[in-house]
Amino acid sequence: MPSTIDEIRTALEKRLTVARDAQDVRNAQIEYLGKKGTVTALLKQISGVAEDQRRQFGEQVNALKQWAVQAVEQRLSDLSSTARRYDIDFSLPGQLMPAGKKHILTQVEEEVESVFLSMGFDIEEGPEIEQEYYNFEALNIPADHPARDMQDTFYLAPGMLLRTHTSPIQVRTMKRENPPIRMIATGRCYRRDAVDASHTPVFTQVEGLVIDKGITFADLKGVLQEFVRGIFGSSTNVKLLPSFFPFVEPGAETAISCPICGGKGCPTCKSSGWIEMGGSGMVHQNVLREVGYDTSIYQGFAFGWGIERIAMIKYGIRDIRMFYDNDLDFLSQF
Ligand code: DAH
Repeated sequence: MPSTIDEIRTALEKRLTVARDAQDVRNAQIEYLGKKGTVTALLKQISGVAEDQRRQFGEQVNALKQWAVQAVEQRLSDLSSTARRYDIDFSLPGQLMPAGKKHILTQVEEEVESVFLSMGFDIEEGPEIEQEYYNFEALNIPADHPARDMQDTFYLAPGMLLRTHTSPIQVRTMKRENPPIRMIATGRCYRRDAVDASHTPVFTQVEGLVIDKGITFADLKGVLQEFVRGIFGSSTNVKLLPSFFPFVEPGAETAISCPICGGKGCPTCKSSGWIEMGGSGMVHQNVLREVGYDTSIYQGFAFGWGIERIAMIKYGIRDIRMFYDNDLDFLSQF
């Protein structure tokens, strides 16, 4: 008999271990502890056992029963906590993962690009490590020209530098393609400037160039007007002021009516109603000749503005260093 009790115990133990869910356990419970169950049958046998063995047998069978009841309970509770662990509720809100996003300057660059794409312009690119020839000579800035001082340059090796503006991309595009040309290019530029609220040694420009027959100053103004209205709103105006850049003649500083106060005067426009945005002008004949264009057929205009300046005015940012400090509290606002 004891061996039977041990066998039953081992069999039930095994049964419970392999039980995969509560229903399996319940079935085992019925088989062993139910009315016709194996353990129940043993209990019924107690009274029939010879008197001298009855007590010992009874104790063993009762111990088996107690163990079986407890083992079934234990297995049920183990299974239910395992089930809970793997029971995924897909309706629960997920954990929010912090998502990265494009830098504010990239966002503004892309916005500028989309305004010009809608006007039929192409987007060009050029190298940040540039030849002196494209950065200066081809743009009518010879070696001894005082305008070189306007752009304090990082030289890398003889004849090589970090581009000081995006204007060399004009030259590269004109050398590669024939008119008509309508292009813009955005990119980083480098100058040996002391850092302050409006200067950083790395900054971003957007360069524009249009070359065709019969292009006039009025086309320049019209394109810039469309551009600033696309960026700052439909009531923004453009004003051209005389200025000098070696690669344009005539050259102009471009100002826009202050988008903050609508031209009435405010701290952003220093009460003038106008904000200067960057250079522009009609492409100098020396530049057109340098790229091999016939100046009796083709004219064009160009402009070069700062992307940081556009972003600062659009978003009311007072200090250019903010763009380069990588302060996530600042950057994540945009
Ligand atoms: N390259 C000039 C600068 O960085 C800006 C500029 C002025 C670009 C006049 C032009 C232009 O295309 O026509 O200061």
